[in-house]
Amino acid sequence: MKIIQSPRELQQEMGRLRSRGKGIGFVPTMGALHEGHLSLIRKARSENRVVVVSIFVNPLQFGPKDDFKRYPRRIQKDRAMLAKEKVDYLFMPSRSSFYPEGYQTLIEVKDLSRGLCGKFRPGHFQGVATVVAKLFNVTKPHRAYFGAKDYQQALIIKQMASDLNFGVEIRVLPLIRDKKGLALSSRNAYLSFKEKERALAISRSLNWAKKAIRKGNRNVVSIRNGILKSLKSKLRKIDYIEIVEAKSLQPVKSIRGQIVIAVAGWVGETRLIDNVIIRA
Ligand code: PAJ
Repeated sequence: MKIIQSPRELQQEMGRLRSRGKGIGFVPTMGALHEGHLSLIRKARSENRVVVVSIFVNPLQFGPKDDFKRYPRRIQKDRAMLAKEKVDYLFMPSRSSFYPEGYQTLIEVKDLSRGLCGKFRPGHFQGVATVVAKLFNVTKPHRAYFGAKDYQQALIIKQMASDLNFGVEIRVLPLIRDKKGLALSSRNAYLSFKEKERALAISRSLNWAKKAIRKGNRNVVSIRNGILKSLKSKLRKIDYIEIVEAKSLQPVKSIRGQIVIAVAGWVGETRLIDNVIIRA
């Protein structure tokens, strides 16, 4: 595995590979890798001659009260995991090479960024869209891989790639959970044993909702209240419980067609998100 820190160097290397007709698959991450990330990397490995993974904790997508400073950084362990997956390139730009002094440009995907996490994390998706655009420009991949764990993020990137003619195929892969059902996340590293138990209420409530809908409940208020009831006592704060149309992320009035139930809430000082995609 070749490790590259300079954006220019990666851009040149990728340019050469691309001109030689090599298919490039790209998986952007912020590191502290887990099986969720690995599922994307393995898919990329199976579909491309060249696999590039980036690790960059992007300051632009963290708000002033967010956890940028304490975000887990485990580069040695990550490197070993990536080498084991036979990744060809690890790209790790420094903050100053990616956002040098005088940096000014931001990318905003308007409508899709407004709801869900967008309401609670102002500027977050602008930061995500901007860094992914930069990563696409230096990597110029044929395909890029994202997880449905961050469902809204994946839709925003798809929209951006299409709106700005990136010519990258965006692949969105299923959310990976641990044995008990907890959605894997780098932020789970913050959770104590007791907090992990409490966090399980999220996936359990989504599972309950899925079953209730399968049994014929089409009522948004009743499904939402069912989830609320089971989360109230377990989470310190609930940011949202939303039932939205899967493509537009607009709230639905009744449960029909492809929908997503998305939850964001706090266990102690840790913000967690989870979702299920349901065809009703
Ligand atoms: P990060 O949280 O490290 O996630 C990198 C990729 O892994 C994202 O596409 C995310 O959706 C996916 N992922 C995380 N947990 C997952 C899980 N449990 N199952 C499936 N996929 C999962 O998302 C980011 O980083 C950043 O916002 C980034 C896109 C790198 C831009 O900075």
